[in-house]
Amino acid sequence: MRIDVISIFPEYFAPLDVSLMGKARDKGILDVRLHQLREWAHDVHKTVDDTPYGGGPGMVMKPEIWGAAIDDVIASEEALPRMIVPTPSGRPFTQAVALEYAAEPWLLFAPARYEGIDSRVMIEYGTHLRLDEVSIGDYVLAGGEAAVLVMIEAVARLLPGVLGNAVSATDDSFAPGAMENLLEGPVFTKPPVWRDHEVPEILLSGHHGKIARWRRDQALRRTLQKRPELIERGDLSAADLKTLDTFRADGDPVAD
Ligand code: ADE
Repeated sequence: MRIDVISIFPEYFAPLDVSLMGKARDKGILDVRLHQLREWAHDVHKTVDDTPYGGGPGMVMKPEIWGAAIDDVIASEEALPRMIVPTPSGRPFTQAVALEYAAEPWLLFAPARYEGIDSRVMIEYGTHLRLDEVSIGDYVLAGGEAAVLVMIEAVARLLPGVLGNAVSATDDSFAPGAMENLLEGPVFTKPPVWRDHEVPEILLSGHHGKIARWRRDQALRRTLQKRPELIERGDLSAADLKTLDTFRADGDPVAD
């Protein structure tokens, strides 16, 4: 997958050299190209922003500079990328959106600083290519760069060959299929007892069927405790519903 990022802080993306992302890039699975937006600003100060029409605080990023940068970046290929503009006023970024993006051959991220990019840029490119304004959560960051890092990591780990264990992504919280709308339950490793805390006995039993059912029950339990609003939307089996009834009836005193 090719990913282009146009930003006034390309150095913000140094973490993409590390760990899974770094390895995916070394293996050629992920081709990340960073661009300094100021290279398309031609005045001596390399100005990329200006005061907002209508007044108000802060600055707005200038459309001509973004337009020139995007045109140059997309001119390199016949096809067009899916363009993503991070903004708190965008559509929510979810695991389903990450999967949708992971199926694209080319993504172009346009993170803004200040009060955002002149809205005509989104109107203009929204007619040329598939453009999404996307929010990573209901809070406001100082700029879109951190949101881009979040999205790249969520997307890249879904690409074939990035995760060591090919099945791990299907067990994730929110993974489409069995884990849709469910949080993953607790996990344990050796030693079997640590500071008087014991690993649940079932996990040491070697009984795969029972372990799978226990894990499913723990996912249901955790979701009921922490994100009860997700449960209603879950596609649950009769066994799942029975588990939920038990946890509800017991008041489930065990917090985790
Ligand atoms: N830029 C600032 N805040 C953001 C958010 N919550 N999501 C995406 N981009 C942002």
